[in-house]
Amino acid sequence: MKKYKAALFDLDGVLVDTAKYHYLAWKELAQRLGFEFTEQDNERLKGVSRMASLEILLEVGGMQNHFSAEEKEQMAAEKNARYVEYISKMDASEILDGALDTLKKLRERGVKIALGSASKNSPIILKNVGLTEYFDEIVDGNSVSKAKPDPEVFTQGAERLGVAYEDCAVFEDSLAGLQAAKSVNMLAVGIGTRENLPVADVLYPSLKEFEVEKFF
Ligand code: BG6
Ligand code: MG
Repeated sequence: MKKYKAALFDLDGVLVDTAKYHYLAWKELAQRLGFEFTEQDNERLKGVSRMASLEILLEVGGMQNHFSAEEKEQMAAEKNARYVEYISKMDASEILDGALDTLKKLRERGVKIALGSASKNSPIILKNVGLTEYFDEIVDGNSVSKAKPDPEVFTQGAERLGVAYEDCAVFEDSLAGLQAAKSVNMLAVGIGTRENLPVADVLYPSLKEFEVEKFF
């Protein structure tokens, strides 16, 4: 079995359960605009950047052509302010099952670890839940310009860690993220269900079931 030298982690939905806060904040915006935004609709926002998420939300409400670029910036800022209120109250209890254990085992084995997240809020989330120290490099929405499925967030991580792409394993709960990993020959580890993540090279329901010793 091939052994990998670096682990690249998505944040939202893999290490912490922040999808619920993104949902609450988007739902409040939709309510203010006068339409319902369901949990099912919210599935479409996973792994998607803030501005692209807003476009999807407006499409759900049938309002995609109603606003200027400036008004959209304003709405995204409003949503983010609410989201930041939610995440500022997060603590270690919101780390997902198996995440801390996986990070610790990887560290023990000397595996290099980077974050590969679309979120511009990742530094505050990692700090609040106490995970910052496990990462050699943080690549997130503040340092990349191209969103998943573009692989930039992972290629930048591999380059900063000095590890070849094919020696990296990516942990993702979104289809776009797995497609990004596969497009540059990284191992695509899906966290979720086969139904949602058909392209995953290997799949686990959560990091609790992931077998570190098998891959690293
Ligand atoms: C991703 C989430 O990790 O980050 C998306 O899955 C979110 O739902 C995106 O839209 C951007 O996050 P932020 O915190 O920069 O608005
Ligand atoms: Mg995710």
